Amino acid sequence: MSSAEQAPLLEIKNLTVQFGGLKALSNIALQLRPGEVVGIIGPNGAGKTTLFNAISGFVKPQKGEFTLYGEERAWLAPHQLIGQSLSRTLQGVGLFQDLTVFENVLAAVEEEKRSTLQNAFLGGSDAQDLERAHMALENMYCASLEGVKASSLSYPDSKRVALARALVTNPKILLLDEPAGGLGAQEIAWMKQLIHNIKVKTSILLVEHHMDVVMEVCDRIYVLNFGELIAEGTPEQVRNNPAVIAAYLGSGATA
Ligand SMILES: Nc1ncnc2c1ncn2[C@@H]1O[C@H](COP(=O)(O)OP(=O)(O)O)[C@@H](O)[C@H]1O
Ligand SMILES: [Mg+2]
Repeated sequence: MSSAEQAPLLEIKNLTVQFGGLKALSNIALQLRPGEVVGIIGPNGAGKTTLFNAISGFVKPQKGEFTLYGEERAWLAPHQLIGQSLSRTLQGVGLFQDLTVFENVLAAVEEEKRSTLQNAFLGGSDAQDLERAHMALENMYCASLEGVKASSLSYPDSKRVALARALVTNPKILLLDEPAGGLGAQEIAWMKQLIHNIKVKTSILLVEHHMDVVMEVCDRIYVLNFGELIAEGTPEQVRNNPAVIAAYLGSGATA
């Protein structure tokens, strides 16, 4: 069965988010199916991060329907994100600066464990938790950084650690907000490969300005402009869409 025939892991309809008089998102509809990498592109201020914030419960929509794993449900509240098999990385990096690399990743394991045991978990980390954190860091080639404080990391290293933290819980859905932002050419090539590897087990929503990354790794792309969905389709369709070229690809995008 191709991914297009499978029930979506995540489905959004009529999503509207307003900040005072500003409509950051207007009637957005979106689907993410198993095995897909779906791109969200558009100029700065288009509403991409707000979309991620709505999905992960960081902002409360004024309107819209939210279906997760085939079940229609209320939009998440921030504390409900853990335990949903849904991870995100932040547009910044968002590590706990005073903790070590290892402690940052272990914290995600412990948070998830507490949520699945419905707050009954009071003990510390066991050997299996430590091993999971270690393996997640090793997968991101960060094992040698385990004892380093997050505040001392280089920017590319901190992005890899943030990915390890997002992936250590084996999420079904991963939201990546500008993973290639601020990286050099070699690190971007690594990021593309990484996304290919991740998608085997985890479906991805990807916000990214580097169009070479988007066009190469995405199965489908949604284009936002001033909070409205102006196009959706395959990379080929989106690249050749006159409205998309006028709003975004012709000017601001990184080639
Ligand atoms: N918490 C907020 N309060 C008020 N306005 C916001 C808030 N978050 C985002 N916005 C506004 O919503 C619009 C969309 O922002 P954002 O989602 O960050 O865009 P993008 O990620 O596409 O650059 C922008 O005009 C931004 O200034
Ligand atoms: Mg943003």
